[in-house]
Amino acid sequence: GENMTLQSVGTGIDDSGKKQEHSLKKGFNGKLIFAIIASALGSSFQHGYNTGVTNNPEKVLLSWISEVMGNRTGIVPEEGSVTIVYALAVSIFCVGGMIGGVSTGFIANRFGRKGGLLLNNILVFIAAIFFGSAKAAASHELFILARLIIGVNSGLNAGLAPMYLAEISPINLRGAVGSVYQLVITISILVAQALGLKYALGTPEHWPVLFALTAVPAIFQILTLPFCPESPKYLLSSKGNEMEAQKALGWLRGTLQVHEELEQMKAENDAVKLLPKVTVRELLTNRVLRIPLIICLFVMVAQQLSGINAVIFFSTSIFQQSGLKDDSATFATMGMGAINVLMTIVSLVLVEKAGRKTLLLLGFGGMAIDTLLLTIAMNFTSIEPNLSYLCIVLVFIYIIMFASGPGSIPWFLVAELFNQSARPTAASLAVCTNWTANFLVGLAFLPIIKAIGPYVFIIFVALNALFFLFIYKKVPETKNKTIEEISALFRQQSYQ
Ligand code: GLC
Repeated sequence: GENMTLQSVGTGIDDSGKKQEHSLKKGFNGKLIFAIIASALGSSFQHGYNTGVTNNPEKVLLSWISEVMGNRTGIVPEEGSVTIVYALAVSIFCVGGMIGGVSTGFIANRFGRKGGLLLNNILVFIAAIFFGSAKAAASHELFILARLIIGVNSGLNAGLAPMYLAEISPINLRGAVGSVYQLVITISILVAQALGLKYALGTPEHWPVLFALTAVPAIFQILTLPFCPESPKYLLSSKGNEMEAQKALGWLRGTLQVHEELEQMKAENDAVKLLPKVTVRELLTNRVLRIPLIICLFVMVAQQLSGINAVIFFSTSIFQQSGLKDDSATFATMGMGAINVLMTIVSLVLVEKAGRKTLLLLGFGGMAIDTLLLTIAMNFTSIEPNLSYLCIVLVFIYIIMFASGPGSIPWFLVAELFNQSARPTAASLAVCTNWTANFLVGLAFLPIIKAIGPYVFIIFVALNALFFLFIYKKVPETKNKTIEEISALFRQQSYQ
């Protein structure tokens, strides 16, 4: 009755748990969407664009590097040494990602989520200038340095943006909003591949423009993000500023009626207020924190060791082996990129309905079966050429499985499993782990292919099956749960 409602407003505890859950559920509104676009478009674009951009203009870049080296020494350089310089330029992006990833916690605490994202754009402009002038300066060193810097920027984005997205969203949309980070990655990989075609900017004259274009979304972010509020959770917990937090929350929800959500945030904050900021050491030694940490790191490693970037990279040559001409193979790869985008949109909707765990299981289980079939099919194409069409279909299904959950969920899971005091530090470790695994797959994949050919996929069969089992046993469902409820779950587990 009336009394109960009044009382519940005062204490934040409701007479029926259901009603409270319901009142925390909110929908999208114009301002929330604006904040999502302002934060995600400017940040995950760097991550995706610079992942995909080297793919198509590979030959153009190789001959530029060769020319630069040749002009310096007066002799035509060996192919091997040109390849090494190029491979360094490609892979140093991940090393930058590791550095940026590990800095996430410090930056997120010191400058805030929004503040960190805005500052991070400085790195984009420096990188873009280096990219744009490397050719004129005849310096492949400048190009490599730019790849490192944009890597640092991308690693930081991969920590800060999902954190901001998770912290500004109402509980029932946290997964959908968190998935926007991955959605923009997939879109920007596709954009990079399209712009990198030889009919577009992937030419000896225009490649510097192709790489420097990475500055465009940074400009967009600088023009839009300042109008959005800082994360209300950060304002409350790190700044201790309830007024500002309430204002930010009101802005994001498009209503002043944010009392209940604020109370809930305050309850979460009170629970951790007396604890100091969690350190790496504590994350590793405290049992209550160790379980979610292991889950986050595991899921990050699983995302990369699923073989996604190897498949994205290898697809063009699988398609070529299947009898597609060079141009068609390139377009088939882009078709694959488009499917990645479409399926990520589907997953963004499914993640709030089916839940995180179900989608992770579907994705990793699906990839395990798919890579098994792919290994078999690839081995029999010499006997039965028509099987190559099956290979193409299987590569497409692989991408669908990856995008159903393993692509997007790891990015925001860390924000769901940890409360305010541990979140930034946990994000540092998780994001750094992701880029390290990404780097290792990049290094190992080609040598392994040389050694065992298409049997390389057997490795992914085993790994994906293992990831499926681990997720089945260890990962809790976090859909529609508050951080408090999720933490309580781990507390229980650690005392069992
Ligand atoms: C995830 C991975 C990234 C990959 C992309 C493909 O974001 O972290 O490495 O390129 O998915 O969609």
